[in-house]
Amino acid sequence: MELFNENSKLASVIHKDHSLLPVINRLGVKLGFGDRTIREICEAEGIDANFFVEIINVFHYEGYFPEKKLLGLSVASVIDYLKKTHRYYIQYLFPETDRLMQLFLQSCGGQCPENELVRKFYDKFRNECVLHFQTEEVEEFPYILELNEVVGKGEGKSRFFEKYGDFSLRNFEEEHINIDDKIFDLENIIIMYLPPNYDQNVGNTLLANLFQFAKDLKNHSRIEDLILLPKVQQLEDILHQNG
Ligand SMILES: [Fe+2]
Ligand SMILES: [Fe+2]
Repeated sequence: MELFNENSKLASVIHKDHSLLPVINRLGVKLGFGDRTIREICEAEGIDANFFVEIINVFHYEGYFPEKKLLGLSVASVIDYLKKTHRYYIQYLFPETDRLMQLFLQSCGGQCPENELVRKFYDKFRNECVLHFQTEEVEEFPYILELNEVVGKGEGKSRFFEKYGDFSLRNFEEEHINIDDKIFDLENIIIMYLPPNYDQNVGNTLLANLFQFAKDLKNHSRIEDLILLPKVQQLEDILHQNG
């Protein structure tokens, strides 16, 4: 698998892996970037090119995980990227999936008792995601950002301990597996168990959307489990060592 670097032309990166399109948007790059390399674009947009390259490589190639490099990324940048990803899911991907789901279910001819089941599985997946993102944004990310600041500055520890006591992060990983399982079950119901009463073209578009969603979510979770969590552990160790 080819890895990208700062000298790669972004247009050719996208031709090799178009699922990176929403990723580069979240990193601050919009369409119309011409023939420029990643370094040139990042310089012009004020984006950290190293961060950009690491995130697209993590997304592009599942086997890519150079721990040392990734642990060197800034906590604030990682969280900013993760929040933008949540926003992309809530403001674009879910409304788009809602729309396609509605079209698909409406396309069923005659009696359609299975519609209710599909709808139920979709709602479960959707609700679980929304709740998960909320907990991360309201409880966990603020804790991590404050922890990062206290360790970085070397002051404000007693206030931090008072505020958070023995607060600790939930196990991200377990919830991520639940979410992955839910979207996989939904895909399988549509692929394997529905009667042939539905518009197949709409079904294919809906499935392509769900596959893309699942891939994006999996990568999002990998960044949380394998970059963010180890960084938090590292910061907590420093905080307690110097406690
Ligand atoms: Fe998240
Ligand atoms: Fe998460």
